[in-house]
Amino acid sequence: MNSARNAVTVIGLGPMGHAMAEVLLDRGYAVTVWNRTASRADGLVARGATLAQSPAEAVVANEVVIISLTDYAAVDAVLEPATHALDGRVLLNLTSATPEEARAGARWAADHGAVQLTGGVNVPPSGIGQPESLTFYSGPREVFDRHRAVLDVLTGRAEHQGEDPGHAALLYQLGVGMFWTAMLGYWQAVALARANGLTAADFLAQADDTANSLTRFFAFYADRIDSGVHTGDVDRLAMGMASVEHVLRTNADSGVDTALPAAVVDLFRRGVEAGRGADSFSALVELMAKPGA
Ligand SMILES: NC(=O)c1ccc[n+]([C@@H]2O[C@H](COP(=O)([O-])OP(=O)(O)OC[C@H]3O[C@@H](n4cnc5c(N)ncnc54)[C@H](OP(=O)(O)O)[C@@H]3O)[C@@H](O)[C@H]2O)c1
Repeated sequence: MNSARNAVTVIGLGPMGHAMAEVLLDRGYAVTVWNRTASRADGLVARGATLAQSPAEAVVANEVVIISLTDYAAVDAVLEPATHALDGRVLLNLTSATPEEARAGARWAADHGAVQLTGGVNVPPSGIGQPESLTFYSGPREVFDRHRAVLDVLTGRAEHQGEDPGHAALLYQLGVGMFWTAMLGYWQAVALARANGLTAADFLAQADDTANSLTRFFAFYADRIDSGVHTGDVDRLAMGMASVEHVLRTNADSGVDTALPAAVVDLFRRGVEAGRGADSFSALVELMAKPGA
């Protein structure tokens, strides 16, 4: 095993793992790689990376093993045949997972003599290696501190978020959940714009304004929500219900798919039916936190 500070293994060469291997090579690291589809390593090998012939060979090569796979089912499929090689390894697992999956993964690693540091990378491949990019980590603080140099290569900002290996996964899912939902809102608006003869480019400046306004809403609501204040002084849920129905009908009238705006109307309707029509639409948070209430 190579415990040198400037030698690492990368398992998984999707867009993320590939970008990580690239930036590690850029910074002078000796990089061993393995990927199910071996040809994805060709460009890296041409730059000096070593292609392991099996996951076990990749794990054996270095103390620090970066894992960037689609999900933990893939992690299991790749690492199960390599359990004999895991003793003494630091598994820097940057694969998306639920908090429970991340905790189970950390227990599984410990059972085989390895330690897992869970990571949630908050940027796309283009952000890998950039100073402003952020990754949340959780797991043993001592491991985070000892391997800080390589973490800083991957994203310029590395934040340790506690010993619970599930916590980084939770923080990642909070952000990525917002991301997917917000982007779906954008796709819906683009589909509606296109159905009415506008291009995505025509709508871009307005989309930017709308997205940029959201941070002010987060700041306005955060304290109120934490204090349980849902006063309908600026935005009554009943008003919101009428508004989202207009959005739904505009999509329907334009022949656009209505699954997403209909789901939004359904949430607002449930809030009104729960007696919150005169409250702020932030009262929906209570409904979402306790759906049975
Ligand atoms: N892309 C992003 O913008 C982004 C941003 C932040 C976090 N993430 C997270 O980072 C992780 C990696 O992202 P990515 O975009 O690189 O993912 P990806 O396109 O899903 O590729 C990841 C890798 O998983 C491998 N894989 C999948 N199933 C496998 C299996 N059963 N056995 C062996 N290998 C398997 C693929 O191998 P093959 O090459 O052989 O298919 C590929 O190398 C994901 O968990 C993702 O959620 C992604």
